[in-house]
Amino acid sequence: MFDLNTILRPHILTLTPYSSARDEYTGKEGIFLDANENPFGSAVSDSTLDDSETEAYYNRYPDPHQYAIKERLAPIKGVRPTQIFIGNGSDEPIDLLVRATCTPGQDSILIVPPTYGMYEVSAAINDVQLIKVPLKPDFQLDVPAILAAIQPWTKLLFVCSPNNPTGNLIDRSDVLTLLDNFNGLVVVDEAYIDFASTPSLTTLLDQYPNLVVLQTFSKAWGLAALRSGMCFASEALIEVLNKIKPPYNVSGPTQQLLLKALNNVSTKDAMVTRILAQREELTRNLLNLPLVRHVYPSDANFLLVKFDDPKAIFDYLIGQQIIVRDRHRVKLCEGCLRITVGTESENRQVLSMLQTYADQISTTV
Ligand SMILES: Cc1ncc(COP(=O)(O)O)c(C=O)c1O
Repeated sequence: MFDLNTILRPHILTLTPYSSARDEYTGKEGIFLDANENPFGSAVSDSTLDDSETEAYYNRYPDPHQYAIKERLAPIKGVRPTQIFIGNGSDEPIDLLVRATCTPGQDSILIVPPTYGMYEVSAAINDVQLIKVPLKPDFQLDVPAILAAIQPWTKLLFVCSPNNPTGNLIDRSDVLTLLDNFNGLVVVDEAYIDFASTPSLTTLLDQYPNLVVLQTFSKAWGLAALRSGMCFASEALIEVLNKIKPPYNVSGPTQQLLLKALNNVSTKDAMVTRILAQREELTRNLLNLPLVRHVYPSDANFLLVKFDDPKAIFDYLIGQQIIVRDRHRVKLCEGCLRITVGTESENRQVLSMLQTYADQISTTV
């Protein structure tokens, strides 16, 4: 039986969080002399404030709880605002989850490589033991091996779906088995879910208090520079994350731009449609190149592509100022490069460079 109180580090349960000036008075009107801000404006503009121009300046601290964003995001995602945490990238909730649950030198987290690298880095930063249970050759979970590897002090299990760098969705029934059988938190990282053919697991949040779902504004929404990620979980866990986060972790300009994006869902949807069409086109054209051994099916905005000589191709593409991700030394991804789906013209260029490389090889042999 899952009990959040047994998962959290004991001192986090009793922690008194920092109370910011904007927690103590939440009204919008008034003379704000409570937060030691600069009353004259911001150094980004040439002149200082006159009273009518306050909106254009950044001299006031932002809403520490990002209420407006959560109100707007909740109906889009089909969750309650109180089930949402907004972080400085989804890397922030990854780290907060490790810090909230794992006592350094004592507790462990479990990951299923090959997968996104930050889970391992967060464990290392926090001196938390890492248990690795590799994916099966079909890139699915080895559920019996995972259940056997879980220790009494394992607090978190990270599953990335669609998985980076393999691009596939993880079988939903396997995730449910883990949720049913693990008394820690199952964190499902859905950074690429907007490109996938199945819906998010957020619909299961009320059923599973040990489920955490991560998503990001960095991919489908096209807002990587803003550094903004979403974490969906039980109200009790979201309260804990709010308690331990830096008070103003999402900047004012970021909050303004996120709101703008959330009122522009159709633009995001149109970009996703375009990326999906390009994913298909790029897959088809890559498979026509003799250099290419395999293109793995993808539910993400990238392709894992197997070549005979990945290192030489990687170096050649770099020489042409085409930068892809070299994954050929990663176990189960031997021979592979990870290629992000670009614009129509970018994809044409990468294909043309690969063809030129193939032509050069065939004339030198
Ligand atoms: C699976 C996965 N999770 C999380 C992230 C980080 O996203 P963010 O930009 O929100 O920190 C990435 C970035 O590439 C990713 O691939």
